[in-house]
This record gives sequence, structure tokens and C-alpha cells, in this order.
Amino acid sequence: MSVFNVALIGCGGFVRHTHLANLNRHARFQIHAAVDVNPDAAQRVAEAGGAAYWTDDADRAISDPAVDVVFIATPHHNHADLTIRAARAGKHIYCEKPMGLTEAECQAAAAAVRESGVKYVLGYNRALAPFSLQARDLLASLDEPMLICYRFADWNPYGTSWMIDEKLSGGRVIGEGCHALDLLCRFVGQDPVRLYAEGGNLAAPSPTGAPDSAAITLGFPNGSAAVLYLSSVGNNACPKEEIQITCNNHTVVIYGFERMAVYAPDGEKSFSLPAVDKGHWALLDEAASVFAGEAEPSVGVAEGCAAPGSRSLPSRRFERTGCTPSRLRATRGDLHCVS
Ligand SMILES: NC(=O)c1ccc[n+]([C@@H]2O[C@H](COP(=O)([O-])OP(=O)(O)OC[C@H]3O[C@@H](n4cnc5c(N)ncnc54)[C@H](O)[C@@H]3O)[C@@H](O)[C@H]2O)c1
Repeated sequence: MSVFNVALIGCGGFVRHTHLANLNRHARFQIHAAVDVNPDAAQRVAEAGGAAYWTDDADRAISDPAVDVVFIATPHHNHADLTIRAARAGKHIYCEKPMGLTEAECQAAAAAVRESGVKYVLGYNRALAPFSLQARDLLASLDEPMLICYRFADWNPYGTSWMIDEKLSGGRVIGEGCHALDLLCRFVGQDPVRLYAEGGNLAAPSPTGAPDSAAITLGFPNGSAAVLYLSSVGNNACPKEEIQITCNNHTVVIYGFERMAVYAPDGEKSFSLPAVDKGHWALLDEAASVFAGEAEPSVGVAEGCAAPGSRSLPSRRFERTGCTPSRLRATRGDLHCVS
């Protein structure tokens, strides 16, 4: 069994809270290098992960012959560039979402991955959450158009975080809503062809005008429709995510990726997990098989870039319908775009 030496680039909150523990307990990954522009953050993760070294120099780790996999968990404006550098160095890549901030960035990263022949996995973990998979199986068997409402809401004004800076993150609708947009397309099994959005900057003022809250309606070729209700001004006592799907006399409700209810003509069934499972472990586990050449990625460059048929980059979806993120203005109530 291959064990992959990992260079973790970006040792912030998400790595410390999620990836670090998962990498440490996965038999096929060994953290070899921890990289962060903040050396204290790199040192903390290196010590907790048993890494050989920490550094603030990404190129040192990317060019290290002992490194097999580059794991990118920095702010979003670095994702495509780090992907290209890692691919050219012949390293496999696990990249947190989104793949890049523009279609051009995504295409460049995808080209570097394809040309180098390395394997690439993009962190749309919700695709492999147990209840996502269960719901998708059911919907595929029903084989009818569906209506979906996805509430993705918390109290998350981000203060001075990079997430409110559109240049660093794409803004919250792009930078975080991409998870939900990807999953909506997976449920329907198609890319949207129409989009309508209302919303704006309802939480903290954004330095670049990125909207933080929006109601986005998507129309699909098969007649399905979905609403993504993404809000940064909700309350954290309520589970952040709830998905309601109606299709052919069935109603499916996924509560916080912890419980699911299916209401069907033959009765009601409830399912629950011991803890919230958004698919982080499943995607990491799949990545090990992908890097070993044993499996194709569920979320790879095809899903991450803006090539025809891709489903992951929301800005592409906005562009496709003539509604680019830059047109989604940040004044309260002023996010308004009709395809
Ligand atoms: N899949 C999920 O469920 C999920 C959840 C949260 C965050 N994320 C993703 O994880 C990534 C990191 O988010 P976070 O919440 O940990 O942010 P964070 O701000 O806590 O961490 C980012 C880290 O990257 C470092 N950094 C910045 N530029 C760098 C560079 N050029 N080279 C090396 N290090 C650099 C920062 O110093 C910081 O320590 C983002 O892509 C985010 O979208 C994914």
C-alpha cells in the first residue's frame, strides 16, 4: 500500500479543525511538510502532524522530492497558482474549493494538471456526504424533474477576514456558495441554464463589494428548479444547512448533514448519523485511491474548471447567464440580476 507524503500549504483554521486529524488517522497519508506564510501556524500544524519540517516557503515543499501530494488550503486567490506550480513539479494535488476565482484561472490550472498527468481532487466534500449520496440514489431512481430549496445560512459577517474580500475569496456567494451550487447540480444531474439572483451585502461592509447573502434561483434543462438561499445574517443556533427536495410524490429533507427524512407514498423514513458528516473523510479517503491510480475522482478538474459540462465554478454559471459576480453589487438589496 502506498503512503503519500503530504505538503500542507495553508495551515489555518480549516486544516487545524478538520484535515489535520483526518490526515493523521489515515493510513495512506503522512504529513511531511507544513507551509504557511505565518510560520507559527506552520509550526503548530507540523508539530501536531509529525511533519519533517515547517516553512513559509511554498516552493521548498513543492520542489521537495520526498513530497508526493500538495494539499492546498490557502485563501482562494492562491489556489490556481499553487495548483499550477505543484502540477509542474509532478505532485498530486488536493485543493480546497474553489479551483480558482475566474474561468481563466480554472482553465489554466486544469491545463497544468492535464499536461503533467498528476491527479487532482477538489474539495467539494458535500458531494460524498452520506446523505447526499443516499438522496442522489433515490432521485436517480425517481427519474423526474425536481424542486430543491437549499438553505445555507449562519451568522458569519467575517469581520476583517479575507472571506469578505472578493479579490481573495471571490466573496461568500462564490467562495462558499460553490459547495451548495455544486451539490444542487449533482442532485439534478445537470448544469443550470437559467439564473436569477436577489440579495446584497447584508452583514459587514465588503471592501470590494462582494455580496454576502443572496437568493439564487437556478433553472435546469429537464424542468427542475432550485433555490439557493445563502445568508450571512442568520443565527448560529440553527443548523447551517438544510436541503428540501421534492420529486414525484417524494419529499426529502436533509438536516445539517446529520439527519435525513424521506416522505414517500409508502410511508415516512428517518435516518440519523452519530455526528454531522459533510463528506470530508470520504473525499480524503477517495483521494488516496485516486492518487494511487485505483479510482477516478468524483470531483476533479472536469468539475472544477469552466469547461463545458463542468458544474463547480459559480462565476462560470453567472457568466453563462450573463450575470457576472462583478455585476452583483454590494449595496443592501441591490444584488439583482436576471438572465
Ligand atoms: N470544505 C470545507 O468544508 C471548508 C471549510 C472551511 C474552509 N475551507 C477552505 O479551506 C481553505 C482555508 O480556509 P480557512 O478557513 O482555513 O482559512 P484561514 O484563514 O483560517 O487559513 C488560511 C491559511 O493560509 C495561510 N496563507 C495565506 N496565504 C498563503 C500562501 N500564499 N502560502 C501559504 N499559506 C498561506 C494563512 O496564513 C492562513 O494560516 C479555503 O480554501 C476555504 O475555502 C473548506
